[in-house]
Amino acid sequence: MNSTELAKLASSARLQAYAPYSKFKVGAALRSASGTVYTGCNVENVAYPEGTCAEAGAIAAMVAGGDTEIAEIAVIADSPKPVSPCGGCRQKIAEFAKGDVKVTLATTDGVVHETTVAVLLPGSFDADYMSRV
Ligand code: THU
Repeated sequence: MNSTELAKLASSARLQAYAPYSKFKVGAALRSASGTVYTGCNVENVAYPEGTCAEAGAIAAMVAGGDTEIAEIAVIADSPKPVSPCGGCRQKIAEFAKGDVKVTLATTDGVVHETTVAVLLPGSFDADYMSRV
């Protein structure tokens, strides 16, 4: 599965988004190291901070499916430029992906920006910082 196909699956997942408050639907799709693809969409809540992002949904599906390594991920939204994962999602992605993992960010009208996990989250906090514990 290439990044274009992954972005298409993210686009399909986006249609399922539950975003009555922001009206901003986001879809994510990731391919795990095992080759299984997992998708997610944002799910909002009337208690606004309780909503979850599309990336978090895809990651939760991956872990529930028994995988813990992201090989590639794509995120899509109807935005003027390719949607950029929030800070919390960058950390969530970094938990399960090496720095060189490809991240495809896309708009629903076909604009694509390809980047990596390390570019999205430079200087990230990782388990090494806790090595004295
Ligand atoms: N959102 C995502 O799901 N992923 C992103 O990368 C950016 C933001 C969601 C959270 C919220 O439901 C809505 O988009 C507006 O912030």
